[in-house]
Amino acid sequence: MNGTQTAVKEPFLTDVLKLRERARKNIDQGAITPDYQGDVKKTIEILQSVLATEIVCVLRYTMNAVAAAGLSSQSVKEEFDEHAKEEAEHMRLVAERINQLGGTPNFNPEGLASRSASEYVEGANLVEMIKENLIAERIACEHYRELVRYFADKDPGTRVMMEGILVTEEEHANDMHDLLVAHQGRPPIEK
Ligand SMILES: [Fe+2]
Ligand SMILES: [Fe+2]
Repeated sequence: MNGTQTAVKEPFLTDVLKLRERARKNIDQGAITPDYQGDVKKTIEILQSVLATEIVCVLRYTMNAVAAAGLSSQSVKEEFDEHAKEEAEHMRLVAERINQLGGTPNFNPEGLASRSASEYVEGANLVEMIKENLIAERIACEHYRELVRYFADKDPGTRVMMEGILVTEEEHANDMHDLLVAHQGRPPIEK
């Protein structure tokens, strides 16, 4: 019944010879090939802001881990330490991606807070620290979800990286929420 003998139509994927030929051209552009549908400049600009957000998160959690130790809250300190480590991994991933796209990751401390989406707020006590971290994580979750939608198919590599980071930020927000409930004794978020 159906004509299996019909002529081969246009290949769905780019012909391998064309791929090879294109890959040899413009090798100075590294991972950026002609099919990249994103705006490289804009992507780098967005990622610089993500990088700043992650650096601020590393600083805040590290500071909190040190301060929490003073308050003899070992389990909270450990949680802050773990988050600081994971934020540092995000920071590195984003910096590497900026580099892959041909940019220079901006680690300049000057202007860092204004480039970051989340704020650096020192909590006066343990509950305040947890609360500020929860707020920062919620900002990151919303911001990164928006970026995942923005990159979509235009830049799948950056999107997948942001999806991975987003999953961790959601876990962080959940961890902070649990800690807040544990230390405040009541659900802090009303709907
Ligand atoms: Fe992060
Ligand atoms: Fe986080």
